[in-house]
Amino acid sequence: MSKVTWLKIGLIAGLLIVISLLHYLTEPYEMELHAVHRRLYYLPLVLASFWFGIKGAAAVSISAIGLYFPYALYNWHGTFHDFDTLVEGGLYVFIALTLGFLAERQKKEHAARIEAERLAAIGKVVSEIAHDMKSPLMVIGGFANQVSRKLHGDADSNKKLQVVIQETKRLEVMVKEMLEFGKPLELVLSRADLNELAEETVEALKPLAVKEGVELKIEPDRSLPALKLDDSKIRQVLMNLVVNAIQASAAGEEVLVKTRRSNLEALVEITDRGHGISEEDREKIFQPFFSTKKQGTGLGLANVKRIMEAQGGAVTFHSKKDKGTTFIIALPLN
Ligand SMILES: Nc1ncnc2c1ncn2[C@@H]1O[C@H](COP(=O)(O)OP(=O)(O)OP(=O)(O)O)[C@@H](O)[C@H]1O
Ligand SMILES: [Mg+2]
Repeated sequence: MSKVTWLKIGLIAGLLIVISLLHYLTEPYEMELHAVHRRLYYLPLVLASFWFGIKGAAAVSISAIGLYFPYALYNWHGTFHDFDTLVEGGLYVFIALTLGFLAERQKKEHAARIEAERLAAIGKVVSEIAHDMKSPLMVIGGFANQVSRKLHGDADSNKKLQVVIQETKRLEVMVKEMLEFGKPLELVLSRADLNELAEETVEALKPLAVKEGVELKIEPDRSLPALKLDDSKIRQVLMNLVVNAIQASAAGEEVLVKTRRSNLEALVEITDRGHGISEEDREKIFQPFFSTKKQGTGLGLANVKRIMEAQGGAVTFHSKKDKGTTFIIALPLN
């Protein structure tokens, strides 16, 4: 925990102790003063809900009641005033939980809004750069191809030119991905069979798996109903995830694509036994342009997340270093 967090906890705890002491140090018959002190308990409550959400609010309400309880019990006479205090205690807990819940929800909405704005800004810059890179790349690739066709005698120069052509092609693919990322997502929904999409993806990636010596398997759950989705986008999602799984695996390892049904969702799980994702990379992998690969653009998972959220679904993962990773995509059944 950071220093600031400790300071916040310290301030809340300090307030709770001071307010409770005020109760214990004030004569029981000074009822107006006690009423004021009791209201002071709302101060740490508001701070805790605002800073720590529902957990903070629950902790403060339990602590406040725990601290005030001995005093209230000692001075309990069964009068109307005592019952009034008891009701106020209940109300205090109710307000705490409501406040904590609302503060937490608002914080999440705010974070999501900031993230969406950040992604939109990145997308805009990326597509502008990609757009400007497109034409020069086409010119380079085109001329390199023309020159290569005429350079028959000079093998050494031709070899170098082939590298130019190959790298230009790689840049062209990158630019295409960047342009795609910058574009607003427009879904074309139709009824589709998730098993079929997964099977076609596995079939399309078999050559890559064979090349890498990875065994690519599929276990479809035939009870899955047809879903309303954008099939080409979901195909893209599956492609990205299975390619990542193959790339993370060593020769001889297995990648398993499994579909299944859970409550109100259809799931596809892509499991590999590869190198896993380190603790520090886990929060970065969905960020655009984060890649640990020599030739990676780092847009694969950013796109996966964007597409899944637009579909009303989600993508999650669990991973163990050197043991493997499972990515799970979930789509609503209706
Ligand atoms: N199955 C996996 N196992 C281990 N690490 C993974 C896995 N999938 C993703 N990663 C990590 O997440 C990073 C980001 O993945 P992402 O697909 O976005 O980009 P990339 O694969 O590096 O490049 P590309 O744009 O070509 O897909 C990867 O570089 C890798 O470090
Ligand atoms: Mg990738």
